[in-house]
Amino acid sequence: MRKKIVAGNWKCNTTLQAGVELAKEVSNVVVEKGDKDVVVVLGTPFTHITKVVDTVDNARIGVASQNCAAEAKGAFTGEVSAEMVKSTGAEYVILGHSERREYYGETSEILNKKLALTLENGLTPIFCCGEALETREAEKQNEWVKAQLDETVFQLSADEFKKVVIAYEPIWAIGTGVTASSAQAQEMLAYIRSIIAEKFGQEIADATSILYGGSCNAKNANELFGQPDIDGGLIGGASLKAEDFIQIINAY
Ligand code: 13P
Repeated sequence: MRKKIVAGNWKCNTTLQAGVELAKEVSNVVVEKGDKDVVVVLGTPFTHITKVVDTVDNARIGVASQNCAAEAKGAFTGEVSAEMVKSTGAEYVILGHSERREYYGETSEILNKKLALTLENGLTPIFCCGEALETREAEKQNEWVKAQLDETVFQLSADEFKKVVIAYEPIWAIGTGVTASSAQAQEMLAYIRSIIAEKFGQEIADATSILYGGSCNAKNANELFGQPDIDGGLIGGASLKAEDFIQIINAY
């Protein structure tokens, strides 16, 4: 059985104090009445990771960084390495988010270095893919997503790929309030699973958790998560309010 995962991506939001407060609230409710079958992950800013790891119930909540350096260590001012992330007790790294690709020029080549370092350090990559509106309007979303995966995670060995979580986030749905319909999301996630099966075999495809992200909220999560190939969500805005995020976690 593949894991159901609800991961929050706080992006560049919350002070340390507000972030710790949010993590505490989420953790308390998850421990009290969260669905035990759902893996909950908090993707915090780097500055918050250690305190959030110390704050949450680590048996129930994993912590993710939203990025890591493409180099192992050295003279790279301002960078945070995968090894450093690992040393905090975090377990996940979000990689390939469209905001990083678009605003920070992250190419597949850069992402492959980050993927390798993430895996070498025993961290789980939550690897994002997804098309822009023009690509969807031209009905080229499948080719686009396949190319993104072909150039990156499909270059891994089967053993490495088994450790990866995929998140499909159509750019037109991120932060826009326009969610992909559950049918659109299901169609894409089924397609992604089919190309994983072509590449690595059905058993690995069936065991891979594939998440949907993009304006997922307390109202639409239930319908999205009810789709057979949707194994959870990567949540931006709605992960910043404990109450909304908890409702999403309990939407299964
Ligand atoms: P929103 O949920 O705010 O649309 O963001 C989705 C996202 O980018 C998560 O990584």
